[in-house]
Amino acid sequence: LSALVTIDPAFVVGPVRPRTFGSFVEHLGRCVYTGIHDPSHPTADADGFRGDVVDLVRELGVTTVRYPGGNFVSGYRWEDGVGPIAERPRRLDLAWHSTDPNLVGVDEFVRWCRKADVEPMMAINLGTRGVQEALDLLEYCNAPVGSYWADQRAANGSPEPHKIRMWCLGNEMDGPWQTGHKTAHEYGRLAAETARAMRQMDPDLELVACGSSGWGMATFGAWEHTVLTESYDQVDLISAHAYYHEQDGDLASFLASPVDMDRFIDDVTATADAVRAAGKHTKRVHISFDEWNVWYVDRAESRPPSGDDWPVAPVLLEDRYNVADAVVVGGLLISLLRHTDRVHAASLAQLVNVIAPIMTEPADQGGRAWRQTTFHPFALTAQHAKGEVLRLAVDAPEHETAKYGRVPVLDAVATHDPATGGVSVFAVNRSLTETVALDVDLRGFPGLRVAEAVTLSHPDHTWTATPDNPTSVRPTANPTATVTDHHATTHLPPTSWTLLHL
Ligand code: AHR
Repeated sequence: LSALVTIDPAFVVGPVRPRTFGSFVEHLGRCVYTGIHDPSHPTADADGFRGDVVDLVRELGVTTVRYPGGNFVSGYRWEDGVGPIAERPRRLDLAWHSTDPNLVGVDEFVRWCRKADVEPMMAINLGTRGVQEALDLLEYCNAPVGSYWADQRAANGSPEPHKIRMWCLGNEMDGPWQTGHKTAHEYGRLAAETARAMRQMDPDLELVACGSSGWGMATFGAWEHTVLTESYDQVDLISAHAYYHEQDGDLASFLASPVDMDRFIDDVTATADAVRAAGKHTKRVHISFDEWNVWYVDRAESRPPSGDDWPVAPVLLEDRYNVADAVVVGGLLISLLRHTDRVHAASLAQLVNVIAPIMTEPADQGGRAWRQTTFHPFALTAQHAKGEVLRLAVDAPEHETAKYGRVPVLDAVATHDPATGGVSVFAVNRSLTETVALDVDLRGFPGLRVAEAVTLSHPDHTWTATPDNPTSVRPTANPTATVTDHHATTHLPPTSWTLLHL
């Protein structure tokens, strides 16, 4: 098979947004406790945060981290997580049927963010709580000393405000599983009034309203329309969440998951713009794709405990990712980048242990940390997608998929950094059997040469990284990449993800 991609520096979709490379830390399973936090680990700092995990987070290139949930946040009392640790209560977490010892709260998390060099993105509880509790948390985080909650923060060791700019107005309020689940109208009103009050305290916030938990939700579309009709002037972004997994051995459909993400983004954009038109608004509401990943939701590890069992940090959602999963993660990043004009933030869900690129063993069980397969396309895209996203002309053969009909076998996006002249092409070959000979027409980019060409593939797409094969499945140099006569050519093996940096 062969495919032709034409790129031109004049065809710009928009800037590469650092916040596209965000992630997510929820009080869920072993994400916080024995994930980022494990005081008895040899690399732990004074707050108990693992240094080896921080190093991997930096290597991954994560820019923002959403916290503390997720479903967890809809029953969370943030006050439980501040003040002297010995005095903090243990609480039942209804979302994950676990016990939270509250050893990590907002102050520790913000310190961890500074250490990991990431921007915190705070979610508030609009499930069991409302406007007042959101204002209390905002005052605690962002107000200068001199008021009750700001003084509490100072007394707890942080005299300077945390200056958290991005706030999620609840989590997945459209989902019947959510504690305090609401109708679109109930939620839209609450989001609007919470946002209005928060801006009275701090006008510089960027606020995210809850969109749908998935394109397949029965309320999708109508939910966004109602919520934005109620809250358009008060919010900056609307969220989207999507998880994918291979079902019944249908690898072709799984590899085409970015087709679903593309239409999800296009449909939310259309709905937000329809509300804009009807309300005669001038600004645009953008998308925060603040939960996306591969997640094998049907596996036993995704089921929370039950009955009288309320464990601390149980093993939950610890998916082990294979090569095909990593190719899909690379493809989903291609979709997010291609929509950089409307997707202004995104969060790979999640960061450590829970459906995560980084895995850890607890300190008392070996203490190792390692990279899953999905780590690599994320890290390489975060590292090499710089400057502007280009609009591509793609001429590629198609193949049939059970879920999405005919789809191109090639999926690609390119970025151009005017500051350095560098061009990066990210490409996925979705064919299960055929190599694609890729030809990139570089007209308008004289003098480029191959700086780096790496491909992630494996003869066995179910190949999985473990702590015992620590080199894991890293992308390897692709020796077929060359540039001649303004054309970059390379071979993409079946079921593969490739970075071409020129
Ligand atoms: O990321 C895991 C869970 O998926 C989150 O808690 C929830 O928001 C979503 O349903």
